[in-house]
Amino acid sequence: MNEPSGFCMRNLRESDLPALLEIERSCFWDPWPAMWFRRPIRARDFCWGVCDGNRLVGYLIACREDETLHIANLAIDPDYRNQGAATSLIKRIVQAATDERFKDIYLEVRRSNEEAIRLYERFGFKVTGVEENYYEGQEDALIMRITINGMV
Ligand SMILES: CC(C)(COP(=O)(O)OP(=O)(O)OC[C@H]1O[C@@H](n2cnc3c(N)ncnc32)[C@H](O)[C@@H]1OP(=O)(O)O)[C@@H](O)C(=O)NCCC(=O)NCCS
Repeated sequence: MNEPSGFCMRNLRESDLPALLEIERSCFWDPWPAMWFRRPIRARDFCWGVCDGNRLVGYLIACREDETLHIANLAIDPDYRNQGAATSLIKRIVQAATDERFKDIYLEVRRSNEEAIRLYERFGFKVTGVEENYYEGQEDALIMRITINGMV
């Protein structure tokens, strides 16, 4: 599917793992191992990639937790930032949550990750909690949440 940003979006497949892990390692000092991606991809959770032609340049992983969606991972190749790739992925997950009548979407984000926090706030996510020392006991996570359908 082509996005207004010019990127295309599609479901992730296991064959994306080498490219995906390269992006993951370039984005996080505590990258997920392959197994953590394999499980949601196989479970057919919400696992989408954004591509520039055939090249995977970013991804979003979201998991069902009853009536809630949890954005567990989102990353964009540093060479492809500030071009709307993450915006396309978040727009799509909000639309999917609306269509499938999830009550809300939440995520954890490092307190220091101002760029990501700004991005989520633009969509209406609000800070609803703090997990102290969530990241390897070194940094707090802000819990951000957006209500989709009805009272939560
Ligand atoms: C946070 C992250 C996902 C953002 O990805 P991104 O694709 O660069 O995000 P977008 O391009 O959609 O939006 C970023 C900015 O670019 C702007 N932008 C979007 N499209 C644009 C375009 N075509 N031209 C110029 N700017 C654009 C957006 O308005 C936004 O501006 P803002 O920072 O003032 O809000 C990315 O920096 C990343 O992968 N970081 C490391 C991993 C991480 O932190 N993940 C989130 C964990 S919770």
